[in-house]
Amino acid sequence: MALNKIPPPIPDKLQNLIFAFRESQALFAAYELGIFDLLHDSKTLLSAEDIAAKINADSDATARLMDTLVALELLEKTQEYATSWLYSNTKIASQFLTKSSPDSVGGYITHSTKLVYPLFGNLQSAVREGSTQWMNTFGMSSEDMWKSSYHNEEARLRFLGAMHSTSRHTCHAVATAFDLSNFHSCCDLGGGTGAMAYTLCQYYPNMKITVCDLQSVVESAHHFQPTPEECLNQANVSYVVGDFFQTDLPKAELYVLQRILHDWSADKIDSILTNVFTCLPSGGGLLIAEMFLSDDKRGPKRTLLQSLNMPVLTSGKERTAAEYKEILKKHGFEDIQTKKLQDSAGLDATLCRKP
Ligand SMILES: C[S@@+](CC[C@H](N)C(=O)[O-])C[C@H]1O[C@@H](n2cnc3c(N)ncnc32)[C@H](O)[C@@H]1O
Repeated sequence: MALNKIPPPIPDKLQNLIFAFRESQALFAAYELGIFDLLHDSKTLLSAEDIAAKINADSDATARLMDTLVALELLEKTQEYATSWLYSNTKIASQFLTKSSPDSVGGYITHSTKLVYPLFGNLQSAVREGSTQWMNTFGMSSEDMWKSSYHNEEARLRFLGAMHSTSRHTCHAVATAFDLSNFHSCCDLGGGTGAMAYTLCQYYPNMKITVCDLQSVVESAHHFQPTPEECLNQANVSYVVGDFFQTDLPKAELYVLQRILHDWSADKIDSILTNVFTCLPSGGGLLIAEMFLSDDKRGPKRTLLQSLNMPVLTSGKERTAAEYKEILKKHGFEDIQTKKLQDSAGLDATLCRKP
């Protein structure tokens, strides 16, 4: 039989996109099931049956998940006898996906599993309605994202764990983007677990740093405090309960806003920057860490995907360096310098001064 038109093959790019969420879910499931930890802690290589027995799971499904993880280059497998395969972690899995590793990004994986993935399930509604999806997804108020994010201790520690597990990797690039050695006092507004403060105090031993955040966050911060060996000058770091929408910010020569402005609508950003400008002394600085979109907003891809977080989760968005400059100029800041950073998981830096 002659065919009039042979259907074209489905482009690889499209198939990969359709399957992309399965890759993320394979990673999330393996992390939450503790597969990377079991392989890491075991003195010997383990079979899928060994793992299934330890996590009390179906051995055939476990074997399929583990083979998928081999294809995703998170596990390796070797054949012991003709029929028996033994698994181990790749270097990346050992370093970044095991709970005992100081470099673990597990906090961000759990945050993605429990919060971001379900919220993204309602992206269509977010786009149609132009509003966040807390109510549709979890039956929780979208009015105050922080009340919803911190609705109980488990949720609060999970959110802070996510921020901490990524901040640890990005703060060094941000702290060293500009020479901050002329500032002797600094306040990290919305500084969360203090990851940025503990990084700054290592590079600038003469700087006293105050982490300012909501009461429940300040009360939880001790969970994330580094040991004296991990951070030498930690006596220079202190915590204070505060609200960046109030005008009585802790006094400082330098304010830091890392991953804050992207959470808020334009009028809320105006209110934060007005308070910062008012509280800064003349010559004082503001260091901002956010991801920059390219001028034509064609990329970077991860920044665009992060900006999609915003309609489902918060009322903010990601911006170009020029847009940040414009906002800062409008508030009276001068000497505005922006820098694209490397090794900062996409975060870029801006430094400006009050004249
Ligand atoms: C996206 S997290 C960023 C945390 C930290 N800067 C980092 O990069 O890891 C936003 C932070 O802002 C804090 N926050 C929210 N509303 C606040 C307010 N009104 N005043 C002070 N901090 C606030 C949150 O508790 C959270 O720690």
